[in-house]
Amino acid sequence: MLSPKIILITGCSSGFGLLAAARLASRGHKVYATMRDIRKKEYLEVEVTARGGAGNLTILPLDVSKPDTIKAAINTIISKDGVIDVLINNAGFGIGGFFEDLSESDWRAQYDVNFFGVLNVTREVLPIMRPRRRGLIINISSMAAFSGSPAFSAYSSSKFALEGFSECLYMELQPLGINVALVEPGSYRTKIFEDNARYAAGFFNTQSPYFSWSQQLKRIVDNHIRDNNRNPEEVAVVLEDLINSPWPSFRNIIGFKSRLRYWFVRLIPFKLYAWMVARILPANV
Ligand SMILES: NC(=O)c1ccc[n+]([C@@H]2O[C@H](COP(=O)([O-])OP(=O)(O)OC[C@H]3O[C@@H](n4cnc5c(N)ncnc54)[C@H](OP(=O)(O)O)[C@@H]3O)[C@@H](O)[C@H]2O)c1
Repeated sequence: MLSPKIILITGCSSGFGLLAAARLASRGHKVYATMRDIRKKEYLEVEVTARGGAGNLTILPLDVSKPDTIKAAINTIISKDGVIDVLINNAGFGIGGFFEDLSESDWRAQYDVNFFGVLNVTREVLPIMRPRRRGLIINISSMAAFSGSPAFSAYSSSKFALEGFSECLYMELQPLGINVALVEPGSYRTKIFEDNARYAAGFFNTQSPYFSWSQQLKRIVDNHIRDNNRNPEEVAVVLEDLINSPWPSFRNIIGFKSRLRYWFVRLIPFKLYAWMVARILPANV
């Protein structure tokens, strides 16, 4: 580690956020781990204590879709430490379902967290980073930001939007000495696929023209996740490396297979890619 940093992370009640908070605190960084429901803090407390980093960790309430909670958390950090060196926009979730099964409120809920939530927190942190002409903003994107698939339009497009926003923000902030980076994990078995999984308003409606197909896709995804043994700590390791690096990479795709897929999708015509997806996830309508 070059020097300890003051780090704000969103969505630390489980998954990547929890692991990153515990890892970074145990490596000597001062971590403000936030979560929208503070009653879930015990899991993180147990993890960070086991790693010996409890003294470097403060847990604060923050819901990325509620600006008041963002302001309150940031005021607390500033009153204690005066600065924020690193922001990790990690909070997110996914709604599964075909476009015609997704309601207007499904779409808004998805974007309120995965896209506008990132904007909300970044908007409050930038005035703290800008005068110091230093800082790092890391947005947790996804491999779903590079390629679509059936029944994932809400989640996938929210991450496509996040990528576009991050590219523009990088260019706006680079001259001010502030770095922006994306981390693009493939699939890991976290609560996003289990307790936190959400489904379109019409996903379980037997009258939906997509019912058979969506239930079939759900079985495929559930099986894929059940057999997934990738260690989510890999994401925390990438975050730690980025924070410690004097020249953090902009795009950070984790693992050889994911990097291969990224380039493959870019090199082949879209219709060929869609044909291949249809072989793996056959239509059932
Ligand atoms: N796991 C994967 O395969 C995968 C792959 C690519 C990208 N990602 C991305 O990685 C990030 C973390 O996901 P994960 O896999 O670690 O899933 P997770 O275990 O479900 O964690 C998601 C976290 O986001 C929080 N969250 C949801 N809505 C929030 C809100 N309005 N305000 C604040 N926090 C909120 C959740 O809090 P609650 O407990 O209160 O719901 C939880 O702490 C997400 O952005 C996700 O899209 C995950």
